[in-house]
Amino acid sequence: MKLSSIVLAAIGVAVALAAPTIPPASKGDKAVIGYFEPLHGFPIDKFDFDKYTHINYAFGAMWKGAPDPYVIYVDYATEGPKIKELVRRGHTKGVKIIMSIGGWYGSQTFSEVAADPTKRKKWIESAMAFLRPNTLGENATIPDGWNMDGLDIDWEFPGRPGAVCNTVSPTDTANYLLLLQEVRAQMDLEFPTNHKTITSAVSIFPWAGADGNPLTDIRAFISVFDWVNIMVYDVHGPWSASTGPNAPLYNAPAPGDPFSAQQAIDTWTAAGWPKDKIALGTPFYGRAFTATVDMNTRDPITQYAPHTGVAPKGGPSDSNATFALCDEGAQYWGFWNWGEIRENILTDDSLTAPTAGWKRYWDNTTKTPWLFRESDSMYISYDDPTSMSLKVDFARLQGLKGLFMWEAQMDYKDELLTVLNQIHCSSAACVCNNVDAWTSTAVYEQPSTKVTYNGRLWTNKWWTRGETPSGTEWGAWKDTGAC
Ligand SMILES: *[C@@H]1O[C@H](CO)[C@@H](O)[C@H](O)[C@H]1NC(C)=O
Ligand SMILES: *[C@@H]1O[C@H](CO)[C@@H](O)[C@H](O)[C@H]1NC(C)=O
Ligand SMILES: *[C@@H]1O[C@H](CO)[C@@H](O)[C@H](O)[C@H]1NC(C)=O
Repeated sequence: MKLSSIVLAAIGVAVALAAPTIPPASKGDKAVIGYFEPLHGFPIDKFDFDKYTHINYAFGAMWKGAPDPYVIYVDYATEGPKIKELVRRGHTKGVKIIMSIGGWYGSQTFSEVAADPTKRKKWIESAMAFLRPNTLGENATIPDGWNMDGLDIDWEFPGRPGAVCNTVSPTDTANYLLLLQEVRAQMDLEFPTNHKTITSAVSIFPWAGADGNPLTDIRAFISVFDWVNIMVYDVHGPWSASTGPNAPLYNAPAPGDPFSAQQAIDTWTAAGWPKDKIALGTPFYGRAFTATVDMNTRDPITQYAPHTGVAPKGGPSDSNATFALCDEGAQYWGFWNWGEIRENILTDDSLTAPTAGWKRYWDNTTKTPWLFRESDSMYISYDDPTSMSLKVDFARLQGLKGLFMWEAQMDYKDELLTVLNQIHCSSAACVCNNVDAWTSTAVYEQPSTKVTYNGRLWTNKWWTRGETPSGTEWGAWKDTGAC
């Protein structure tokens, strides 16, 4: 989540009052969460609120040059009206509107805030303003409350270097837990009957401990979070040894970096985190690299290739402008929004016949498509409705809370968002969606592999080959219902 909004005016001190009740989302208990980054100028009335359960407004921020570096800022003049409209429209549809705090550039002083009891208290007071009702009337430029439904605390990343402007300390994660516990307590005190959520966008590895390595036991964090949003994207980028998928669903040990959605869920659950408190992050953008070989002619064709280590300019909106609040140097990111890929490369609705010069491939290990253009050696890893659909099926099979995307406005005519909404479907047809048919010759190595056979969905209990699914007690296959 490296894009970030700039926030420039201080939050007023708010008065605590009981909040009005918000109608519950009527979409079951699965979440489809959209990060919304206001800088792109997307009109709020373009949102199809029926397709979201939550919208995370990104971001309220803290930075070192601010009048007070230890409170959360949003720009009242430009952002205030958008937040109000989002809350108003969202609430009429039962969509929860969450304030995301921090992000890549706006997390500069989290370390100092979390380390100091007085700063924590003040920070929590500024955070509570997003949740409290506004008592100053609808036309107040500086409301004393924003009537939002939760806080998405995006400290990227405690105990690890994130943006170059961040303070980082070995005690970050321990202090973060204190901050979270105090926020949770204050929220529960002020909103005893109207639960406000705490979530966070997190890495594919749990928070770093004092030694800089991911914690192996994170159960102490369970009670403070409603769920975490695991960012399974930016897995490969200019820093990687080879080109490779932005958002692999699965991974082989090599080639490429051994990270994926499956790896992230395995790592978090191994540290004690419950699957139903995980939303799986998906990118509504691809990432471009400049390869140093012709990826069309390698044998075998593979999406892992040497590259220049510098991202080329990606889609039309990819910018090399430096960020005002934290100068990390001028560079392109290589970002191609899905909308830009659709308008420039995959203009054919088949999504497999790119425009002249491009070739499109599917990687069946990571379940991701990629593109290559020989003329400038541009490789793009991206997600399309097919790869998204497999991620949704994965989230359902794993029993996750739901899915989210970075970022809502990068879609094309809600194509990817519509696929994410398949998470709400619980009919037999959806449950069997994208599940391979059983074959007598395949080896089913991993337990809990799903297959369809004879109009039913089956999962294996152990390694098996050549055993027809039958559902007998001692058989390898368990019958899990009709398709
Ligand atoms: C807020 O401003 C609008 C537009 O000027 C006006 O119609 C409305 O009456 C105002 N509301 C209040 C509570 O003053
Ligand atoms: C951004 O890229 C353009 C075109 O590639 C280049 O002319 C410009 O100098 C770059 N800006 C910075 C700040 O490096
Ligand atoms: C991908 O692999 C699956 C088995 O995991 C197979 O059923 C499917 O046909 C393969 N698809 C392609 C395009 O190779």
